[in-house]
Amino acid sequence: MSAVANLAVPTPTSHVPSPESLCWRTDVRMADAARVAELVAATVFFNTEEIAIARELVEEHLIKGRASGYWFVFAETADGMAGYACFGPIPATVTSYHLYWIAVAPACQARGIGRALLGRVEAAIREGVGTRLYAETSSRLQYAPTREFYERTGFRRAALLPDYFAPGDGKIIYEKLVSLGGS
Ligand SMILES: CC(C)(COP(=O)(O)OP(=O)(O)OC[C@H]1O[C@@H](n2cnc3c(N)ncnc32)[C@H](O)[C@@H]1OP(=O)(O)O)[C@@H](O)C(=O)NCCC(=O)NCCS
Repeated sequence: MSAVANLAVPTPTSHVPSPESLCWRTDVRMADAARVAELVAATVFFNTEEIAIARELVEEHLIKGRASGYWFVFAETADGMAGYACFGPIPATVTSYHLYWIAVAPACQARGIGRALLGRVEAAIREGVGTRLYAETSSRLQYAPTREFYERTGFRRAALLPDYFAPGDGKIIYEKLVSLGGS
């Protein structure tokens, strides 16, 4: 195991390389469960329950492998995990995939790493002859940056389910045709 695997999340003082010089991998390692939890917590975007779910998806993969339906792309720097994405085929569909999670460490954001993670997710889906990628988020103001990310990376709003999460907090479903390529 490399030294990289023992480190956590890059800090504002870390040197953050461009997406091209990051270390990319798709295999899932034991240490990733804790590191993903740390990365997701560092974004201060997710509550305790959501952080636990992000960790459980990694653990599910560690137990069942690809049969878990939770597949990963990790982007690492020498200082730790810069970002990751979790996606997988949607059960009972033929070519549709779900983007369960995408997160970039605060110190590494706005450098194209989220877009690069998504590009790798889409390439993997295309390899599996998948055609559509779905993502969901909240309609709340707090999630405006997340919606902006999806809209700038080629997703379209496919549906709004008003009051889905709570009164005044709807669910927005985004869709992207990955067969067209580009993110
Ligand atoms: C959303 C997130 C993954 C984006 O990662 P990132 O590496 O900062 O994004 P990129 O630098 O690749 O940006 C890609 C595009 O999205 C836009 N974007 C990204 N974050 C944005 C923000 N906070 N506000 C507005 N636009 C944003 C960028 O402007 C860029 O568009 P452009 O190339 O047309 O300028 C990252 O901000 C994050 O982890 N956020 C918290 C967790 C989250 O919301 N995850 C998604 C739901 S699971």
